[in-house]
Amino acid sequence: MKEQLEQLKNKVLEEIKKIQDPKLLGNLEKEYLGRKGKLTKILRKIKDVSAELRPVVGKLANEIKKDVSAAFQEAEIKLKTRYQNSSEFFDPTLPGIVPPSGHLHPITQMLERIWEVFRSMNYDLVLGPEIENDYYNFQALNVPPDHPARDMHDTFYLKGARGVKRERGKYGDLLLRTHTSSISQVRTMEKRKPPIRIMATGKCYRRDDDISHTPMFHQFDGIAIDHNITFADLKGTLHYAMRELLEEEVKVRFRISYFPFVEPGAEFDVTCTICGGRGCPTCKGTGWLEMGGCGIIHPNVMKAAKYDSKKWKGFAFGFGVERPAMVKHRISDIRALFENDLRFLNQF
Ligand code: PHE
Repeated sequence: MKEQLEQLKNKVLEEIKKIQDPKLLGNLEKEYLGRKGKLTKILRKIKDVSAELRPVVGKLANEIKKDVSAAFQEAEIKLKTRYQNSSEFFDPTLPGIVPPSGHLHPITQMLERIWEVFRSMNYDLVLGPEIENDYYNFQALNVPPDHPARDMHDTFYLKGARGVKRERGKYGDLLLRTHTSSISQVRTMEKRKPPIRIMATGKCYRRDDDISHTPMFHQFDGIAIDHNITFADLKGTLHYAMRELLEEEVKVRFRISYFPFVEPGAEFDVTCTICGGRGCPTCKGTGWLEMGGCGIIHPNVMKAAKYDSKKWKGFAFGFGVERPAMVKHRISDIRALFENDLRFLNQF
């Protein structure tokens, strides 16, 4: 009986090694260890063994049963983990997992297009601080304290700014800049000598929030200063730029307007691209879409930058970046641009 047991053990261990399929392994286990299994049957016969031999045979039988059960368990674990263990098994023919790829935000796309158009006209890109001081945001742009033009530029003033005021002398309170004119006019003019052509761009902040205004928005400002700059140069520049940006044959209209840092000043509109100028809800029936402000740089601004306004003349213009992006993509609510909803953003 001892031999029989040993033989059986060797045989089953041999068979376990050959098996590759977990299902067949289960069948084999049943064949040996099941209720009517080969090993079980032998174990049952132990009671018939003579009393002297019984303890020895019984011990051996139990050991064999333990070994065989352990071998089955080990084989089962091996087969189950085999496909999860990539160092053992790797199928290079299976399709890979494609990682989701992003793309530039529509505002960034429009900014890059604007830079491209103005770079082609030799404009140099400059950036400036989003936390600006009262001097560069207002005073140097011919907007003294208490000037009514400040009403439209109500913004967020920074805590502790009073302490800073004392330190910074003429620069005044700190605030979130309300336009990018603070970068192009004066801040950059102070650092560079004319003739210059610069474009400034970035985030601006105002206390505004509705379907066409968000408290944070983007602006683009440009200035050109040279010996013989006239309003005609400004008109030609904006006409060319608007057609390039909107990729349509738009007309540009100039309406006289007031900005303290330009004289004469104007607002400029483009033909409504949605109705082609016939009049629709987007252009409120006028056929025109308002784009921004512009004009000839005021002598006081030239003075703040220590430019001789008799020798140099320049024009300035500024417009929001969201507006042309909305017109181009036919987006009716500006807030959709900043909600980070991928269902919206994936369309551009
Ligand atoms: N900075 C002005 C605004 O934000 C726009 C502007 C720029 C007007 C340059 C004239 C010249 O409203």
